[in-house]
Amino acid sequence: MSMDKTIGSTVKHQQQLKIGYKKQMKTCLRSPSWGLVLLCATFAFTVTITVVVWTTDLIKIALNENMGIENNTAGYDIWSNPPIYPIVQVYLFNYTNADAFAKGIDKKLRVQEVGPYVYREYTEKVNIVFHDNGTVSYQGKSSFSFVPELSVGHQPRHERVIMPNIPLLSALSVMKDNFLLAQIAFLAVARGLEAEQFVRVTAHDFMWGYDDPLFSAAATMGHAMPYKKFGILASRVGVRKDTVTMYTGKRNLQKLGMVTRFNGQERLRHWSGECNRIDGTDGTMFPPNLLDRNTTIYIFQGNMCRRLPLQYTEDAVILGGIPVLRYRVPRNTFDNPDVNPENACFCHQDVESCLPSGLFNASPCTFGAPVVMSFPHFYLGDPALQEIVDGLNPDPEKHDGYIDIHQELGVSLGGRSRLQFNMMVRKPSALNQLADFADGSVLPIAWFDTSVEDLPKEILSVVYHVTFTTRRVEKIMQYVLLAVSCALLYVLVRRFRNSRSPASNSDAGIVAPI
Ligand SMILES: *[C@@H]1O[C@H](CO)[C@@H](O)[C@H](O)[C@H]1NC(C)=O
Ligand SMILES: *[C@@H]1O[C@H](CO)[C@@H](O)[C@H](O)[C@H]1NC(C)=O
Ligand SMILES: *[C@@H]1O[C@H](CO)[C@@H](O)[C@H](O)[C@H]1NC(C)=O
Repeated sequence: MSMDKTIGSTVKHQQQLKIGYKKQMKTCLRSPSWGLVLLCATFAFTVTITVVVWTTDLIKIALNENMGIENNTAGYDIWSNPPIYPIVQVYLFNYTNADAFAKGIDKKLRVQEVGPYVYREYTEKVNIVFHDNGTVSYQGKSSFSFVPELSVGHQPRHERVIMPNIPLLSALSVMKDNFLLAQIAFLAVARGLEAEQFVRVTAHDFMWGYDDPLFSAAATMGHAMPYKKFGILASRVGVRKDTVTMYTGKRNLQKLGMVTRFNGQERLRHWSGECNRIDGTDGTMFPPNLLDRNTTIYIFQGNMCRRLPLQYTEDAVILGGIPVLRYRVPRNTFDNPDVNPENACFCHQDVESCLPSGLFNASPCTFGAPVVMSFPHFYLGDPALQEIVDGLNPDPEKHDGYIDIHQELGVSLGGRSRLQFNMMVRKPSALNQLADFADGSVLPIAWFDTSVEDLPKEILSVVYHVTFTTRRVEKIMQYVLLAVSCALLYVLVRRFRNSRSPASNSDAGIVAPI
C-alpha cells in the first residue's frame, strides 16, 4: 500500500519536474546571462541524474557488473576455494538381528540408526579452464575431517556395525542379467572368497573404506573401479571423476552458475526425454532473475545423474535479520509416475519397471550397483516400504530439507540436504543361497544430513551491505537529489521572475503554443 503511494507520488514529482524543466529550459535559451546559463546547466544535469536514480535499480546494475566468475577476482577465490565448510552428518542403519535372520529365526530384518558421525567437508575446484563462450570447466575435490564435538560421543573407529554386503549385492545384480554359466562360475568365486551377506566392520571403515575380497577381485578383473577399498563415502574423497561445465554469469547474469555440460555431454544418457536434461546450478548460487517465488529452480546432482527441483515455500529471516527465500525439494519428487507423471522418463525400460513412490533408482549411473536414493527413513515414501525392515521412523522434523537463498544476490546462505542411500536386492534364482534377502526388497544403508550454517565474514559482510547499507544509501541519494532539483527549480523560478517581471506579456507569448 505505502509502496504504491510512494511510486504514485514519485511519478507526480517526475511529471512536475518535467513541466518545470521544459519551461525553465526555454527561458534559459532565451536569456544569455552566464550566471543563468550555469544555473540552467546545473539544473538540467541534476534533473537528469535524479530521473536516472529514481527510475533505475543501480544496485542491480552494479551487481550485474560484478557478479560472475572471472579469473583473478575476489569472487573467483571464493568460488574456487570456498571458505564454507559443510557439515556432513552420517547415520548408518545397523542390522541388529542379522544372525537371527540368517538362521531363519527372525523373518523380518531389524535396523537401528546409529550416529551421527559428523565430518566437516573441505571443497575446492581443480583443473579449472575458462572457455571463450562464457563457460568454465572444473572438477570438484573434497576432503573430510572428523568433528568429535558434534558426534556426541560416537567414535567411528571403535564402533562396529553389521551392514549388508554391498559389493556382493552389486555383483548379484550384475549377474541377474548374465548367462547361467556365468552365474555358476560366480557362485564358485563368491564361495571361494567366503562372501557373506552381511559385513561386520567399524563405522569408520564402512564409510571410508575396508578391504573387501569381492571388490578387490572385481578391481583386478579389470572393472573400472577408481578406489582400492570399498566404502560408501570413498568416492567422495579426492578429485571427482566428473568434469562440470557451467556458465560464469559474466555479462549474462541470467545464467550464473548454470551447468551446461557434464563430462562434455550436452545431455545425460542414463534416462529418456526430459530426464536427461542438464540444468540447474551446483546449489551454491542461482541466477537472481529466477528467484521470483513462482519459478522452479534446479540443482544438478552429478552423483545422482539428475537435476533435483526446488520450489519456494516461504519467506524466512536468518543470521540476525537477513530476509531469504526458503526453497524445498517438492514432496512428489521421488513419486511413482502414476502419481507424478514427470518421473516416467526415469524408469529404465518401461513404466512397470518403476519403483514404488519414495524411491529413485540411481543404478544406471553407479557402475551397475543397484543404488536407490530416498528421503531419510523413507519419509514421504510408499507405506509398503516400512514393511521391509523394522526400526524406521519417518519424521518431517528430522528428515525434511530446505535451502535459503538471498533473492538479489542469488547465493545460498544456508540449508540442509537430507538423502538416504539404499541398496535394492536383485538376485538370480541360481544364486539364492548367497543371500537370504527377498528379491526386490530395498535395504536402507545410510543417510546423510549436509548443512551449511556458518558463513565466513567476507561473504556475510557483502550480504549485509547489499541488504541494508547499500539500499539505504540508494534511498538517501534519491531523496537528496530530488531535494536538490527542487531547490534549483525554486532558485531558477525566483531569478526568472526577478529578471522578467516587467515584460511578463512577452513571457506569455513564449509559453503559449503557436
Ligand atoms: C550394532 O549391532 C550389533 C548387534 O546388535 C551390536 O553389537 C553393535 O554394538 C551395534 N553397533 C552400534 C554402533 O551400536
Ligand atoms: C588465471 O590467471 C593467471 C595469471 O594471471 C594464470 O596463470 C592462470 O592460469 C589463470 N587461471 C585460469 C583458470 O585461467
Ligand atoms: C563452450 O566452449 C567449450 C570449449 O570449447 C565447449 O566444450 C562447450 O560445449 C561450449 N559451450 C556452449 C554452451 O557452447
